[in-house]
Amino acid sequence: TIHPVIMCGGSGTRLWPRSRKTMPKPFLPLVGETTLFEETLARCDDAALFAAPIVVTGTAHLAHVEAQVGGREALVVVEPEAKNTAPAIALAAALLPPEAIILVCPSDHHIADVPSFRAAARAAAALAEEDYMVAFGITPTHPETGFGYIKSGDPLGHGHAVDRFVEKPDLERAQGFLAEGGYSWNGGIFAFRAGAFLAELAQHRPAMAAAVREAVDKGRRDGARFHPAAEPFARIEGDSVDYAVMEATSRAAMVPVAMGWSDIGGWSALRDARSGDHHGNRVRGNAELVDCRNVLVETDGPRVSAIGLHDVAIVVDGDEVLVTTMDGAQLVGKLSGAARQ
Ligand code: GDD
Ligand code: MG
Repeated sequence: TIHPVIMCGGSGTRLWPRSRKTMPKPFLPLVGETTLFEETLARCDDAALFAAPIVVTGTAHLAHVEAQVGGREALVVVEPEAKNTAPAIALAAALLPPEAIILVCPSDHHIADVPSFRAAARAAAALAEEDYMVAFGITPTHPETGFGYIKSGDPLGHGHAVDRFVEKPDLERAQGFLAEGGYSWNGGIFAFRAGAFLAELAQHRPAMAAAVREAVDKGRRDGARFHPAAEPFARIEGDSVDYAVMEATSRAAMVPVAMGWSDIGGWSALRDARSGDHHGNRVRGNAELVDCRNVLVETDGPRVSAIGLHDVAIVVDGDEVLVTTMDGAQLVGKLSGAARQ
């Protein structure tokens, strides 16, 4: 059985004004009727394959997490503060027996093909049993600089050994990787044996590993919540699993998977993840479009009327209106409104 570890921490400003600090991306029904976090819970809800999940989150998101977990069985680990993904995963690993297989799942992705996700989880778990640090490899479509890149090596189980793992290269390097070939994007989903992950962390980030262990040993269980001790956790120098473990380890492996994956990294990606009408328009809320193509409209109140637009997003949320080209949507985080929230 695989233990899902669902990470719920980041904020993300690229889907402003819909996503806000108080109501961030995982907790919004962005693609379908349910939220990205609920989609994640549902993906890992298969008793034949998965144990009850561990959700790692902070106090800021705790109310959303618990409301959306609802009646499901889950352990919620409440981080005293955000220290990025390596400590978050380590907390969950330290709460499980060393031989347990964990599947790290971001809470803010959309995956269209759930059976393929589960098949890849099985393949990754088989490699994790052999103490590999296993990433999910996604076929890249453009030189995205917000992702990790995996160069695959020799075949290994249902996947490959990893020749190198490069987190968030600059544009020039990303272009080079695509030109060279043999690279996948890191999908941000990982399988580890709990004990093997903690051993790698102890090797590459010994202070972090020790502080997490202490925070768990001195932590306290409260019903379905676990509170790690604040003081040891505060000492941690935060880092992501990609830098702390995946770039550093000599035991990285990857399973390639085509599963309709998107990290919904902005309005353009969200448009692509939603199904459109026969003009490619995606409308949510009250709107009238005339002679528009591939336009995304999302309004929580005011009626939106638009004529003659293509590849544009119009988002109305409360007292904020965003109008952007799809290409420009990557810059939403630079708007002062998004920064202020
Ligand atoms: N609990 C907790 N605490 N969760 C966190 C924290 C934290 O301090 N920081 C981030 N998370 C959660 C986020 O909510 C998200 O679900 C997941 O961990 C990944 O963090 P991101 O901040 O979204 O990472 P990223 O998108 O920059 O990069 C990662 O994902 C890419 C794919 O989407 C890396 O793994 C890249 O290599 C990868 O390509
Ligand atoms: Mg992300």
